[in-house]
Amino acid sequence: MNFREELESRTEQVNKLIGKFLPKEEGFSVEMAKAMNYSMLAGGKRLRPILMWETYRLFGGKGQVVAPFMVAMEMIHTHSLIHDDLPALDNDEYRRGKPTTHAVFGEAMGILSGDALLNYAYEVAFHSFHVEPENKNIPLALQILAAKTGIYGMLGGQGVDVTNEGREIPEDMLLYIYRNKTSALIESSMMTGAVLAGTSNKKIRIMEEIGRKVGLAFQIQDDILDVTSTTQELGKPVHSDEKNHKVTCVTIHGLQKASRMVEELSRDAIALLDGLEEKNEFLRELILSLITRTK
Ligand code: IPE
Ligand code: IPE
Ligand code: MG
Ligand code: MG
Ligand code: MG
Repeated sequence: MNFREELESRTEQVNKLIGKFLPKEEGFSVEMAKAMNYSMLAGGKRLRPILMWETYRLFGGKGQVVAPFMVAMEMIHTHSLIHDDLPALDNDEYRRGKPTTHAVFGEAMGILSGDALLNYAYEVAFHSFHVEPENKNIPLALQILAAKTGIYGMLGGQGVDVTNEGREIPEDMLLYIYRNKTSALIESSMMTGAVLAGTSNKKIRIMEEIGRKVGLAFQIQDDILDVTSTTQELGKPVHSDEKNHKVTCVTIHGLQKASRMVEELSRDAIALLDGLEEKNEFLRELILSLITRTK
């Protein structure tokens, strides 16, 4: 299998796994379950669970304990997208090639199903205790998953992002926003994969640093595509940042320098990965492929 085929196969395996954990569409809460499943099944690259899985493999992980964490991570990420698109935040009506959750189910259900998905992520992650009761690393993995999602992670970044729309913000604040709103979940994915495989603290920190760089590059490329791509290709509206008067890497540095930053950050991440004695060629190629991603 070449890289593209392998990526497709991994994505399909993640989709199957997600399908096993989704809430049932039944009872009085059927509408909420439908809204949660609508967003979870709308598509998406499944990048974070794949990064988690490949990091688990990199450090010799062979079990199933990573599976609930992979699904939980995609649920946390999808929750962040549902809420990011709400009228009070970016006010976007298109996501993953479909109308956004709030556009289909209404704003109240957009808020509630986003919350429910975030909580459900932990319900799913706790399932790992049943999968490998003997695995001593699960509590630390849960701690990282939670911390990188909250005020000192993704949500912290989203908060600073949304409260500073339309303002000239200094570069260190922009870096804070990117590191948190986007890198945090990617760091979390790579760190939990490493933790569950039982690797050393030193290597967990290296994975955090790799995740940070991959995440920064990923957000800068997202900003670039917001300007240069099409809604059809991206599956979400272009010019969302301009509409919301956002300062981004592109508005500060221009497209050319922003592209160079994506490349440099990704190469730095690869250099750190290459410094490890453990090898995973697919993970290496995946990080490199993100430099030129078009969606
Ligand atoms: C979008 O993430 C949000 C950002 C952090 C830029 P993705 O580009 O991974 O979105 P999906 O999961 O593929 O829809
Ligand atoms: C948001 O960044 C990152 C999240 C935590 C959802 P954006 O607002 O740029 O993400 P998109 O472009 O809407 O996916
Ligand atoms: Mg946003
Ligand atoms: Mg947005
Ligand atoms: Mg964007």
